[in-house]
Amino acid sequence: MSGGAPIRVGLIGSGFMGRSHAIAIRTAAAVFGLARPLVLELLADVDAAAASRAGLALGIARTTGDWRALVADPEVDLVDITTPNTLHEPMAMAAIAASKPVYCEKPLAPDAATAFRLADAAEAAGVPTFVGFNYLKNPLTRIARELVESGEIGEVWGFRGIHAEDYMTDPAALWTWRLDPKGGAGAVADLGSHIISLARFVVGDIEALSADLSTKVAERQAADGTRRKVEVDDEARALVRFTNGATGTLEASWVGTGRKMHLAFELTGSKGSVCLNMERMNELRLFISGGKLGRDGWVEIPAGPAHPDYAPFCPAPGHQLGFNEIKAIEVKAIAEALAGGPAFYPDFREAAMVQATVDAVLLSARERRWVELKELVPPAA
Ligand SMILES: NC(=O)c1ccc[n+]([C@@H]2O[C@H](COP(=O)([O-])OP(=O)(O)OC[C@H]3O[C@@H](n4cnc5c(N)ncnc54)[C@H](O)[C@@H]3O)[C@@H](O)[C@H]2O)c1
Repeated sequence: MSGGAPIRVGLIGSGFMGRSHAIAIRTAAAVFGLARPLVLELLADVDAAAASRAGLALGIARTTGDWRALVADPEVDLVDITTPNTLHEPMAMAAIAASKPVYCEKPLAPDAATAFRLADAAEAAGVPTFVGFNYLKNPLTRIARELVESGEIGEVWGFRGIHAEDYMTDPAALWTWRLDPKGGAGAVADLGSHIISLARFVVGDIEALSADLSTKVAERQAADGTRRKVEVDDEARALVRFTNGATGTLEASWVGTGRKMHLAFELTGSKGSVCLNMERMNELRLFISGGKLGRDGWVEIPAGPAHPDYAPFCPAPGHQLGFNEIKAIEVKAIAEALAGGPAFYPDFREAAMVQATVDAVLLSARERRWVELKELVPPAA
């Protein structure tokens, strides 16, 4: 990668996230005036025909049906992985071996051991890594964290977090790669990883948890017409203890009937409380104790140019950022990190800690006991 030049991206996958990354890469370059913007150089998909179709749709001229060729391509500076979870490890390891920075979708790996191996390999090779926990990039998520760090809501006592959607509620919803146990857990990995990353970002490390899992739809039809047993969780619930003494609950469900993007938390502090729900991602609700009797209550703060990364999109408050815009903020943070700016968060190490929390949920549910996170985290090398 030559200094000062754009960062040429090799994008693998063109589904939900592949499209979102392509939009975000273009948006970040257009909006943020970056010294070294990311640019779309090459697209790989499952075969040459699929890649070429997706290339036309996304406006990426060069395409390939072989992701290994993408990783090896001399015109590719950064490898961007938006494929199903089982493929993250081989693709990321190949990029690390080629000394190329890796941008990978969440969850990083099917299990914590694999995720820590990836973090170790990247750190040993000195390769920067970036993981797509995009909700951390919502300007209001960062305000929630600031309210904790500044002490404005006092000591953090409680965190109630949930990520519920309903895309698997219908028993006729097909068996897809998200239900393949080779890719790890079910809803707790797919959705739970987001609320775990948020909990860690605003409150801090989780020390221990006690969890329960359930599967509501026992079998589903696969695309080839066969019936397949569902071996992963549809729902997960956990009681959690944070190392700073806060306590709380985490929930994940992809059978949350009626819920479309209910990634939400309520943070209770000794002097105030904060609520954020990504279905209303431009509204932060804040309560500060000590108001005048009969006049105190929750206030609703609309996202606006006073919050980080909002103003480059729009000079006026209340005009709303959306999913693809927070993805563009993620891309901007990657571009800045690669240009020598602040380190990007979350990297593979942090994503491995999230994965350790997912694994702790599985272990706790299986063994019906509280699990200490240190049982899943390898001792520091
Ligand atoms: N950050 C978020 O908010 C968010 C949201 C949805 C999905 N995700 C994550 O993004 C990843 C992809 O999810 P998705 O919903 O985009 O999936 P998807 O099924 O819509 O897309 C997957 C893409 O990968 C391609 N692919 C599969 N095998 C491949 C191979 N061997 N070589 C090259 N390409 C291959 C598919 O053809 C497809 O284009 C997952 O890890 C998922 O957890 C993250």
